Amino acid sequence: MNSYINEVDFFKNNNIEEIADTYGTPVYVYNEDIIRDRMRKVSGAITKYPYTANYSVKANTNIHILKLAVSEGINCDAMSVGEIKMLLAAGMPKERIFFVPNNVSEQELQYAIDEDILTSLDSLSQLEMYGKLNKGGRCAVRINPGVGAGHHEKVITAGKKTKFGIAEEDIDKIADIVEKYDLKLVGINQHIGSLFMDPQPYLDAVTNLLRIARRFKNLEFVDFGGGYGIPYHKLDDEKDFPMEDFKKKLEPILDEFVADYGYAPLFKSEPGRFCVAEGSVILGRVHALKSNSGVKYVGTDVGMNVLIRPSMYDSHHDIEVVRDGKTVAREDMETVTVTGNICETGDILAKDRQLPKIQQGDLICVLDTGAYGYSMCYPYNSRPRPAEVMICSDGSIELIRRKETIEDLMKLQINLSCK
Ligand SMILES: Cc1ncc(COP(=O)(O)O)c(C=O)c1O
Repeated sequence: MNSYINEVDFFKNNNIEEIADTYGTPVYVYNEDIIRDRMRKVSGAITKYPYTANYSVKANTNIHILKLAVSEGINCDAMSVGEIKMLLAAGMPKERIFFVPNNVSEQELQYAIDEDILTSLDSLSQLEMYGKLNKGGRCAVRINPGVGAGHHEKVITAGKKTKFGIAEEDIDKIADIVEKYDLKLVGINQHIGSLFMDPQPYLDAVTNLLRIARRFKNLEFVDFGGGYGIPYHKLDDEKDFPMEDFKKKLEPILDEFVADYGYAPLFKSEPGRFCVAEGSVILGRVHALKSNSGVKYVGTDVGMNVLIRPSMYDSHHDIEVVRDGKTVAREDMETVTVTGNICETGDILAKDRQLPKIQQGDLICVLDTGAYGYSMCYPYNSRPRPAEVMICSDGSIELIRRKETIEDLMKLQINLSCK
């Protein structure tokens, strides 16, 4: 593919250069249609049995994106009280929120209990804490099924080397705590890791969780977790996650379980990235070009503070070059290393990347930044967080978060009396 933004008409009829000028760079630009489309696609992964895909809002908590989830009828998972509050502010009904925290305080659990939000407990000690706070209450538990998978060791969230979930060998102890506090255990969930393009590891994880589910009686739901991948290498024609193939292979696994268990509980998943990643790009400006020891560096304002995934997980994001409001064709290429403006050697957006020859003043358009992009931004080097704008379905542009200012960063700092 020569250009994703042209192929999907990402900016509709808006001039890219004008967006960059109006909102400043770097700026996150979202596309409403794409986000709605992905929320619909993932909601159709199971049609034979009762099913909900819960958007895992850790991927992106902008309230306007959460409002899209509300209007698409997709439920949501929250990892923290802050995420629950964002969801409530977006108008998400409480019964559509599932709280899946780990290592939270009594106060945080009490907040969810007071708000009547169903909670999954991630360890025996948290289950005990919950039981004391909410005797006779309803809850779920997160199981660590013993195997994990994912694109980087930092996103593998199950298996022997992770902090998450209750190990299978401790399942009998769950029953003891449930009985002690007269809890009603209504569901089990897992999340084994992130970014599968091949459905097989996820299907194996489903089979495994359903094996474990047979050890629990009267479950209202079984939640298989998130992790569906998106093609981060789309300019090299990487294919989409094969949702239809996945669906076909998943059905017989569910059939077998339902026949055995006696009824179909609600099946759930927790996709984060799939819903939002492809619905955003970052526009950044090229401010410097130089060669050091034979390496050509392109110096931009898209630092690791704006998008941390490349430095944190060695993640790949495709980049398009925009000049005079138009994408530059992918010909006459050269190998460059694209960096940000943060004072860290690791501040690298793309290492040894083939890009069309770049000029100072060009814009870069970093693709697939809607998940774990803004939600992981931070104001390192006292660089305020960027603005976020939405290209709405009707082609209009809305500012959905203004750019942070230095004053915003300073206002939380208390004057010290010591000299
Ligand atoms: C418990 C849980 N559920 C869901 C997700 C969403 O994962 P993804 O964005 O890969 O779909 C995560 C992400 O790490 C998670 O930890």
